[in-house]
Amino acid sequence: LFAGQSEFVKGVVAMSGLPPADRIEVCFAGRSNVGKSSLINALTGTKGLARASNTPGRTQEINYFTQGPDLYLVDLPGYGYANAPLKIVEKWQKLLKQYLSGRQTLRRAFVLIDARHGVKAVDDEIMKLLDTSAVTFQCVLTKADKVKAAERDKVLSQVRAALSKHPAAYPEIVLTSSEKGDGIAALRSIIAHLE
Ligand code: GTP
Ligand code: MG
Repeated sequence: LFAGQSEFVKGVVAMSGLPPADRIEVCFAGRSNVGKSSLINALTGTKGLARASNTPGRTQEINYFTQGPDLYLVDLPGYGYANAPLKIVEKWQKLLKQYLSGRQTLRRAFVLIDARHGVKAVDDEIMKLLDTSAVTFQCVLTKADKVKAAERDKVLSQVRAALSKHPAAYPEIVLTSSEKGDGIAALRSIIAHLE
């Protein structure tokens, strides 16, 4: 699956704008700035494909990327951005709910968690939504290069405890660094084995 090229398809702001459900897809959810776009760039090996930025809230649409002919990678807008106006937050939540519960070809959601911060209340909310929508989700710890082993292990236990409360959670946690490349091959392999 990861042998082919990656291309940006489109940014979607409403369900009616989704591309044809003609292949499987995985999506990447997580708090603003957690590293969703950077992870997609690392997975595809294409710098600058998904726009990564230090400005939280950079990605405001559901962005579709192809990975070869048989897979879409879907970059979701970040949540939990403190300065986002309520109207935007509500619009986003509605679209997210529709997307998660209405996309037949969605095989797995990856919920990204900052390896320094662990699972926050907003992450837990998204996980509940995924439980309700019966979408299997898997946690990816990001920015592993920014934590020492002891801190990382503490966060890992916290994430494990949080996951145990969610029926839709897949138990394996993937530790990644888009910067250094840690865990990227492992995540590619996980995605390649979905069917
Ligand atoms: P939104 O689109 O705003 O929701 O953010 P995002 O989740 O797409 O985050 P993005 O990929 O734009 O990354 C946010 C910041 O974190 C950028 O400055 C990245 O360079 C940085 N970053 C992302 N991944 C890593 C990583 O693995 N290690 C380090 N050190 N920095 C990272
Ligand atoms: Mg982004």
